[in-house]
Amino acid sequence: MDDLAASRLARLKARIHRVLSILLPGRVLDHYVVPVVKRRAHRPYDAKRFFDSYYRATGSAGLSDRATISPYTSRLESTFHYNSVENSIILSLAGRAVPDAPRVLDVGSGAGHWIDFYREVLGASAVTSVDISPTDVRNLRTRYKSVKGVKVVEADVSQDSFELGADFDIVNAIGVLFHIVDDARWEQALRNLRHHLADDGLLVVGGQFGHITQNVQFHETDDFSDFDELRSTHSPVVLVNKRIRSIRRWRSTAERMGLRIVSLQRTKHDRRIRTPENNILVLQRTARVGGDA
Ligand SMILES: C[S@@+](CC[C@H](N)C(=O)[O-])C[C@H]1O[C@@H](n2cnc3c(N)ncnc32)[C@H](O)[C@@H]1O
Repeated sequence: MDDLAASRLARLKARIHRVLSILLPGRVLDHYVVPVVKRRAHRPYDAKRFFDSYYRATGSAGLSDRATISPYTSRLESTFHYNSVENSIILSLAGRAVPDAPRVLDVGSGAGHWIDFYREVLGASAVTSVDISPTDVRNLRTRYKSVKGVKVVEADVSQDSFELGADFDIVNAIGVLFHIVDDARWEQALRNLRHHLADDGLLVVGGQFGHITQNVQFHETDDFSDFDELRSTHSPVVLVNKRIRSIRRWRSTAERMGLRIVSLQRTKHDRRIRTPENNILVLQRTARVGGDA
């Protein structure tokens, strides 16, 4: 397919997607229709290359809540998303023993929304932020250069070698773990996050925890310099960048990893607006698991 045909096809697909998104609730479209349409061979994406392209492509808007969700998200959608997910986290933590000035690990920080949230709302004494994208990490280091108690680390939370040498009262991962699409790497990420939890610490995960385990988001190249290029690139192999796991899968995997689910907070939805994306699952450590400290 030549470039012109590929870009026409991409525009047509975007138009069909827009029409379907008026007719169907966003979740139904994303979780059931899109996966059926993507029938070509699938393989996992390269998260570091993809997210680094993403943050380079967003340019000076890179560190904004809106751009973190998608380049096409409106101000209203972005505000609704972050407000409602904040409220879900607040409800999940209400009545739990959270220290006055918790030490927080924020995984996959993006534009830093959750760094600010834990500092401002929970009075976090220290926040360690981790992201896989070198461009994002550079941007975050500039943003938080003069903010005491914020440390930014470039790392992949799904690697066996992930080790920060500290433990945390809250480990927060919003909109991140479903981007670890390989199941073995996702399990390793859970093992790593458990390892960084203080004894009574809470693991706060933002994601989708429904009835199905399925690949739900796709793209065609990890290397792009702008979003038109990302949209118009056509490849024989589809790259998977998001995999949701059912609540049953979460429960059984968490148990094997030495974690237990203590709450699941569903975030309010409304048909008039496509966001929010994240429900909130809270987990705690159980007794030691084999080989883990
Ligand atoms: C959808 S964004 C969410 C950003 C932020 N948590 C928020 O809710 O605004 C996902 C972020 O996770 C980072 N990320 C993806 N995979 C990662 C991994 N394996 N380790 C660390 N960070 C990762 C990406 O670079 C990106 O900044």
